Amino acid sequence: MSNRAAIYGLMHGHGAAHGSRLLAVLPHAICTAGLLAMIAHTGIGAGSRADLVLSGIVTAVWGLFVAAYVLRIWTAPEAPEQRAASAAGARVAYLLSASGWIDLMAALALPAGWLTGLPQRDAQLFAIVWAFKYIRHASGLGSLLRVLQRAFPALVSIVTVFFITLLLAATLSYVFEREAQPEAFRSIPRALWWAIVTLSTTGYGDVVPVTIWGRLLAAWVMVGGIVLFALWAGIIANAFAEELQRRHFLKTWDLVAEVPFFQTLGAAAIADIVRLVRARDVAAGTVVVREGQAGDAMYFIISGEATVMFAPGPVTLSPGAFFGEMALLFGTRRSATVVVTKPSVLLVLDIADFRVLAGQRPELVNMIEAEGRRRREANAALRDS
Ligand code: CMP
Repeated sequence: MSNRAAIYGLMHGHGAAHGSRLLAVLPHAICTAGLLAMIAHTGIGAGSRADLVLSGIVTAVWGLFVAAYVLRIWTAPEAPEQRAASAAGARVAYLLSASGWIDLMAALALPAGWLTGLPQRDAQLFAIVWAFKYIRHASGLGSLLRVLQRAFPALVSIVTVFFITLLLAATLSYVFEREAQPEAFRSIPRALWWAIVTLSTTGYGDVVPVTIWGRLLAAWVMVGGIVLFALWAGIIANAFAEELQRRHFLKTWDLVAEVPFFQTLGAAAIADIVRLVRARDVAAGTVVVREGQAGDAMYFIISGEATVMFAPGPVTLSPGAFFGEMALLFGTRRSATVVVTKPSVLLVLDIADFRVLAGQRPELVNMIEAEGRRRREANAALRDS
């Protein structure tokens, strides 16, 4: 491995080695140390020993960020997604990427402070931009942005209602209170402070209505605020749930589309199934179905292997096969114990969803039923012989 590749690996915490993982958390530790030193520095008297130490830490962390930025530019061609690009192309891609901009900002933080001509203590406040470095490792941020994008039209409506209520509250409170409290409600802009504090249900209590109409208005504004925030939270929660469902759908789709049994059904049927099943990783040796128990679900094997413990000999089921259908179809107890014999991925279809599927896709359930009947007859023949 070249030196450049080795340094790239170290900086990105690649490899399973313990030291490598330690290196992966090191940038967080350095960033946190720099930010904490900058924050603590603001509470320390100038010229003290602590002042020197903390300001030294901030400068040292900045030095490390500059070095890291230079190294990242140099090692950019080692990024797996840049293998096909030229070295210059890979470096430009890094410089223009979101992390490239964040690293540049981190490296320029202190020089920007010095350039402003502020005293050294205040110049170090620019180090606050280092907080953006945490963004790189916030993997859920992409989902959050998609959630906000999805909920955007509904959120805009709420913000609009919020502003209308705010303006009405400020205007009415100005009308009701201006004589009783000429200072706080002298104008609508002044009354806006009371309106925003009340509508957001913060209620500092620095300005309170004293007239009866003003108090009635305050009551309405407070309740309105609670309703608006509840709506706001509900819309975001709903969009989050949809986003999770979407991710579940995509992940399960890939699994379902792999199963030969489903491949013959076409995209519409697969989409129906994907909405109803959930994937489960199962360790080897797990008993999934126990003979004599009531049946509450059936299972499709995506990968791995399951064995039906059946006299006179066990039956091995491979990927693409299913089990646990007989109890659901015939309303009987489990006819055999089924054990997973290799680490497997199973798709679980609950009994309620099995009924839904029977309504939506009778042709699919007929195929399952045909196999269930065949198995039942084979078992009966074996038992009789
Ligand atoms: P169920 O009876 O719900 O639970 C045990 C499962 O083992 C059963 O459904 C079938 O899916 C499966 N099974 C039973 N007998 C056989 C067989 N002869 N061949 C393959 N699978 C079987």
